[in-house]
Amino acid sequence: MGLHGWVFLLCPVERKLCMATFKTQVVSERQDGAVLLAVEELARGNLVAIPTETVYGLAADATELGAVQQIYAVKGRPSNNPLICHVADIDMAKKYVEISPLAEQLMQHFWPGPLTLVLPSLPGFGIASPVSAGLTTLAVRCPESETARRIIAKLGKPLAAPSANPSGKLSPTSANDVLAELGGQIPLIVDGGDTQVGIESAIIGVTDEKLTLLRPGSITADDITAVVHTPVFDRNSNQITAPGQLASHYAPTAKVRLNAHSAEAGEILIGFGEVAGDMNLSASSKLEEAAHNLFKFMRKADLMSPSCIAIAPIPNHGVGIAINDRLHRAAAPRNR
Ligand code: TXA
Ligand code: MG
Repeated sequence: MGLHGWVFLLCPVERKLCMATFKTQVVSERQDGAVLLAVEELARGNLVAIPTETVYGLAADATELGAVQQIYAVKGRPSNNPLICHVADIDMAKKYVEISPLAEQLMQHFWPGPLTLVLPSLPGFGIASPVSAGLTTLAVRCPESETARRIIAKLGKPLAAPSANPSGKLSPTSANDVLAELGGQIPLIVDGGDTQVGIESAIIGVTDEKLTLLRPGSITADDITAVVHTPVFDRNSNQITAPGQLASHYAPTAKVRLNAHSAEAGEILIGFGEVAGDMNLSASSKLEEAAHNLFKFMRKADLMSPSCIAIAPIPNHGVGIAINDRLHRAAAPRNR
């Protein structure tokens, strides 16, 4: 465990005072030695922000208790909200979770890529217990970013990595976003440019060969059914299995108003298609483009300190389902 892990353990309440001690270095993923630098920090028990194809992750060695505790401290994340374990490949996942034939089929088809699978964890599996927040399941994902996978492979252990933002806030889609939110609290950010997808991975629970959509993403329930010929159940029609699915999430500082066709006084309007707005998620109504721009534009609008961010209607199909999920949480009553 690194020095800062101990410092945090000694004074958990005053975490900001204890942890704001780093001069954060930003290194391009293209720079020689970037992967090695990240691996060295992680091996020391420190946190490193890494690029993925969805959003930037705040990564720690998932087997190191002190490192994982730092994730919760830096994000101010409730301890009952489990983390995703990022693996380099299917073989690495096999060491930590039980992989049924259906789960393996999903991994073979969609990995590496923005699909997280929640699977039964193997007994004595070696992952620090706060990662799964006391659940008997573990969320695993193999990111598309080659840099992320090279870091994991070189470290030889999975990385616990939530989105690299304070809990409940907008997820970061660039190294600059991470620096603005977490600068001074972590030693290193690996810069992989703007993330391609722009919203977090889809999460599917797989138990007894039944599939449950826990979080919509760019890979849709229909995409999954088309591959495995198995229906995907909605989490709302079943028990909610993820304690982290809090109502208010992905929230900018400003209030958010949905389904807006024009701006009211003091509002910034984020448009889509024919609703032009002050900025347009996709003038040509492309949902993938809208997902890519979503958090970036909400962050930009927020910096203008409007009375409210108004957002045009987004069609609720394909990736639009995931966009509307994020928007409803952004507009939900704030619980803090
Ligand atoms: O795209 C992504 O998934 C990004 C990048 C960094 O990989 N990560 C991400 O992590 O979005 P985070 O922590 O922001 O969201 C993880 C979600 C939470 O809603 C959590 O409740 C859920 O995954 N989760 C984690 N482990 C779970 C489990 N065992 N059962 C159910 N849900 C779980
Ligand atoms: Mg998050």
